Amino acid sequence: MNRDVIIACDFPSREETMAFLDLFKEEKPFVKIGMELFYAEGPEIVREIKRRGHKIFLDLKLHDIPNTVKRAMAVLSSLDVDMCNLHAAGTAEMMRAALEGLTRPDGTRPLLIAVTQLTSTDEKSMREELWIDHPMDETVMHYAKNAAGAGLDGVVCSPLEARKVKDACGDSFLTVTPGIRFADSAGDDQKRIMTPEKAKDGGSDFIVVGRPITRAEDPVAAYRRCVAEFLG
Ligand code: C5P
Repeated sequence: MNRDVIIACDFPSREETMAFLDLFKEEKPFVKIGMELFYAEGPEIVREIKRRGHKIFLDLKLHDIPNTVKRAMAVLSSLDVDMCNLHAAGTAEMMRAALEGLTRPDGTRPLLIAVTQLTSTDEKSMREELWIDHPMDETVMHYAKNAAGAGLDGVVCSPLEARKVKDACGDSFLTVTPGIRFADSAGDDQKRIMTPEKAKDGGSDFIVVGRPITRAEDPVAAYRRCVAEFLG
């Protein structure tokens, strides 16, 4: 099913990650593993979480020359991850090479999602440092269209942009959206936020939820609430 709640497992170590996953006795949530945990623990952390029966979004945001990305993606694909990502700024050639590297001998592959512009980059630094003269929203949509044209499955974007991405790239082009908060929870450092329920109506296919679940008093209940609001 190409719609789900993904828990961002932003933990620094295997021990903390497994202690968190041990809380889930009945369900096997889709989880996101980022750079910190992957670089700390290596590929074995991916194998271990897969063995436990979870789907994995490996969030390593690759960006290098096409051949290097292709070969690195082949390694990630052999880890049997379900979703991975790269920077659309690496060009269509790099994105196509990534898809080739990801495709397994039997023709299957993980979903491949592009990062357009990092939300930490604002229009001023984009113009002055990256020398991109177009407005942020046009740049994001242009990168999304490049990713769709290269054959990628979708982009990471704000839940507030999901509908626009689908209008530009087609309804089947996936939107993976962080910046999710319950109506009654803290925003933390996220500024452009949406509830799981609104994200569903706004065109998000996958919501990535970290602290509202990982730091909840009862993470399993928070996860269930997220699933009920987003998928219910
Ligand atoms: O704890 P929280 O729900 O804010 O976590 C969101 C997750 O999504 C984190 O892993 C964060 O790094 C990631 N992310 C994000 N905004 C982006 C891209 C990724 O919050 N633009």
